[in-house]
Parts: sequence; structure tokens; C-alpha cells
Amino acid sequence: MTTNETTSDKSTYELLFRNGTVVNHDGVGTPDIAVRNGRIAATGDIDPRRADRVVDCTGLHILPGVIDSQVHFREPGAEHKEDLETGSRAAVMGGVTAVFEMPNTKPTTTSAEALADKIKRARGRMHCDFAFWVGGTRDNVADIPDLERLPGAAGIKVFIGSSTGDLLVEDDAGIAAILGATRRRAAFHAEDEMRLNDRKHLRVPGDAASHPVWRDATAALMATERLVRIARSKGARIHILHISTAEEIAYLADHKDIVTAEATPHHLTLSADDYERLGTKLQMNPPVRDKAHQAGIWQGIANGVIDVLGSDHAPHTLEEKAKPYPESPSGMTGVQTLVPIMLDHVNAGRLSLERFVDLTSAGPARLFGIARKGRIAVGYDADFTIVDLKRRATITNGWIASRAGWTPYDGKRVFGWPVGTVVRGRQVMWEGELAAPSGGEPVLFSEALPRG
Ligand code: DOR
Repeated sequence: MTTNETTSDKSTYELLFRNGTVVNHDGVGTPDIAVRNGRIAATGDIDPRRADRVVDCTGLHILPGVIDSQVHFREPGAEHKEDLETGSRAAVMGGVTAVFEMPNTKPTTTSAEALADKIKRARGRMHCDFAFWVGGTRDNVADIPDLERLPGAAGIKVFIGSSTGDLLVEDDAGIAAILGATRRRAAFHAEDEMRLNDRKHLRVPGDAASHPVWRDATAALMATERLVRIARSKGARIHILHISTAEEIAYLADHKDIVTAEATPHHLTLSADDYERLGTKLQMNPPVRDKAHQAGIWQGIANGVIDVLGSDHAPHTLEEKAKPYPESPSGMTGVQTLVPIMLDHVNAGRLSLERFVDLTSAGPARLFGIARKGRIAVGYDADFTIVDLKRRATITNGWIASRAGWTPYDGKRVFGWPVGTVVRGRQVMWEGELAAPSGGEPVLFSEALPRG
């Protein structure tokens, strides 16, 4: 194999990754990867003497950096649960190189000022690259065309069923107004608020297993159907977050021209059978449901209806989670466990490593128009998730870097483990240790490039 270096062949590289198995959007191979100025400068057969430093990846797989397009990092407003530093530390400890963070903070991220404030807080403190979803509300509709194109904005996010925080636009007119204003793909939490209100009496005090009875599969399907209908009427593209039902997978198969969809590791791994063991720790919106729904979402992984994986990392303290249901908040950690949990599924034969790459790098890049990330190619950011597919390890609360300090997978033995996290050529995590100071930067989007 020859190098495909395009510039002067006399040049040297800062870093060279050798002997790894590279899994890219276009297949599997064993090219060396050379890095200069944070970007991939060459791939192929590269003379190691031209690199300042060589990272030997024998026995390891090098994947394009895993992008988690749904996390809640709680800053500003609820830093006792998480902040941008701790949340992003959890991300890189788990092999994640970029996150899109959600707007249900205090204050909400619903204005240019609030977005600028988050970016300012993130720079120099976050360990991975980042973008922030901007909340769509009835009050900021007129600003949406500007807001969604601000540098650092992932797009517009709308809750049409209430969850943690105050963001909610539940009615058709409100949703239509927002979708009439968006040009980028907007993301939705799809549970039907009216049905949730009608069924609140079905919550059984002290029994988290009643959570999916209250917030049932019909509430999710109704919301998704309404969103598709309104999006179609407005000529808008939408993204449905955390699909939780088999019915939505079947329904969305007929609407892939305008709709993309996310699955979460918890909906693919945990089921209603786990409420007895985990209680309120399993409480999440939309809920973890029975195994038939889990199988339906796996079908969506197999048949391509699901486009991306997101963790929906939603930390709450153990003290908060210990409140009796339904006073307990919904949400669990997930950004750090996404990679090992899904590699375990890869080793169990439930999806291929190539499909994992599609779901976590090429997929988010395609959906959200990420500039310069999402594949291993010359000119792209040198973001890599380096994994040992053969390593067996146990996930424990002690390993969790989130301030919340717990995971629903505590004690779970997995087959496959993240060994290294490389963000724009910086080895930020290696063998479970933070290996570089925080240096996260905003993700660039082709539809919202900064001027000048
Ligand atoms: O369970 C959830 N928790 N679902 C959401 O949509 C929000 C999240 C949170 O922010 O706690």
C-alpha cells in the first residue's frame, strides 16, 4: 500500500497510529494514520521515522471518533448532578470524542446569549468537542432561523411531552410554528403530552414499574405520528430522539424521506424485567419497556430505520433517585457506557462493528451536516475511538466519571472496551487515564459555518 499524502512528501507528522485495524464508513483495513495539526494528514503505508511519536495499536481497532448526539450535562443550573467538565470527562473515559448537549438547563438554552454562555463555559473545560442544542419555544420562533445557524448550535430541540425541566411545546400549532421556521433538522422528544396528562393516575406510588404503564407506547407513537404529519405539511426534516417502541420503527419505515431516528443503549439493553432490580434507577423518559419493544428497536438497528445512537446521558444523584416513585426524577447516566455496552452487543453478534461505526460517526455526520468529522479521511479531524474488542471488563460505579457517580450497569461484565480517545490528534484518554488537558472546541456544521 502507498501513502495518499497529498502535500510535500518531506513533511513530518506529530503522531502516527500503526498496526491497528481501522473500521471506517467504507470498510475494514490496516492503514497507518498520520496526524498533523489535529487533522488526518495521510493514511496508508507511512514511514514511522517521519513521525514525532508512534502509537502502536497492535490488537486494537481504530474507529472514527464516536459522536454522542444526545447528552444532558446540567450546566448551568444543576451542577450538583453534572457540569460540562465532569460530563465531558465521562465522555472521553468512555471513548466518546464529541457530544451534543441538550437545552433543558437552568436557564434553558433558548437564546443566543444562553448559547454563547454555554460555549464560553465549555471552552477550555470540556475534554471532548461539543455542540449545544437550542430549545425551540413559542417565544423564540421568530429567532429560530438565526439561532439554529449560530456557530456551536447543533440545531433546534423541542420537547412535545414534558420531561426534566420546563421546555414544552405540546400543541400542533406550536410545533407547526417551530417547524415552519427551521431549515436544519430539528430534534424531538416525542411523547404525547395530552395523553400523559390523561394517564397520570396510572402511576403507582413506590412502583417505578408503573412508569411505562403511565407513559405508554401509544403516547410515543401518537407523538411521532403527529410530528411526521406536521413536518410533512411544513416541508421540514425532523429527528426523533430515543425511539422506545416497536410500532414507531414500523411506522418510520414509511417516512424515511423526512425523518431520522435515534436509539439509546438503554432501550436496547435493559427491559421492563429490570424494574424489580433497578427500581427508579431505570426510570427514564421515554420509558424502558418490555422485551417486545426492545426487539423492535433491534429490528430498526438491523434494517436501517435507526440512524444514530445517542446515550441520552441524564444524570441525577443517587439521593434524588432514591425518592419514592413518582417523586424520583427520570434519567440515568450513559455517555461513558455507550461504547462498552454496544461493543458487548457487537461481540454477541447483535450488530456488526461497521454498523456501530455507521451509527456513531458516519450517521451523525450525515444527519446533522457535521463538517470535517465522521470518517477517517485526509483533511478530517483526527478523532478516533480506539477499542480492544477482546478485552473483558466489568462496568462499576467506581469507574463512572459523571458527578452522579452511578450507572444502571454497575457490576455488568462486558466483552469489548474503549482503550483510547483521540480528539483532533490529542490523546485525551489512554487506558483509563485522562492523558491530556481539556481542550474541547465547538463542532463545526456545514450549514452553520462561522464567517471569516
Ligand atoms: O429521562 C429523561 N431525562 N428524559 C429526558 O428526556 C430528559 C432527561 C433529563 O434531562 O433528566
